[in-house]
Amino acid sequence: MHRYALGNVKLELVQGDITRSDTQAIANAANSMLLGGGGVDGAIHRAAGPDLLKECRTLGGCDTGDAKLTKGYRLPAKFVIHAVGPVWHGGRQQEPELLASCYRRSVALAAEKSLTSLAFASISTGVYGYPFASAARIAVSTVRSATRDDSALQEVIFCCFSDGDLAVYQGILREAAI
Ligand code: AR6
Repeated sequence: MHRYALGNVKLELVQGDITRSDTQAIANAANSMLLGGGGVDGAIHRAAGPDLLKECRTLGGCDTGDAKLTKGYRLPAKFVIHAVGPVWHGGRQQEPELLASCYRRSVALAAEKSLTSLAFASISTGVYGYPFASAARIAVSTVRSATRDDSALQEVIFCCFSDGDLAVYQGILREAAI
């Protein structure tokens, strides 16, 4: 098992498909239209069923760095937090700030609903091209500081699609002495 503690929050690294996660919410790597797509977004829409797209259509899109919450429909998770990560352009177009903002906003939305458990996909690290290790460092440090405040979160999962990605997170947590 890959279990850690981030302050009072239980942190778990899991390799697998986030659509199977039974956390109260899962954080999707969406795009600003919020109308579905490929990658993890496509998988979430397929597993949730067509009502998810119907609700997404009412949201009017989402800015990069922001996130919006919907119900989870046929997913085990009750809610989906659709976070819009930045496209990687080399790192000088505020990509780190925008990615951190996705994680912060996702934790804030979970806090508004008093959710206790949340699983994150690795936002921006697929089609959007963000270098995985840099993105993972931002994910860990941002979730650590965001959950220090008033969130009800007791359990956060970083859901890695491959064993290699999970190994990167393990290395980062080791480096950070977590
Ligand atoms: N479960 C968990 N992780 C997954 C899954 C899954 N089922 N499928 C892929 N991943 P990406 P982005 C990982 O490309 O880079 C979409 O078309 C994948 O290995 O899904 O933020 C959206 O609509 C990678 O580590 O998202 C947007 O247009 C991570 O999820 C655009 O792609 C994110 O990869 C967003 O690009």
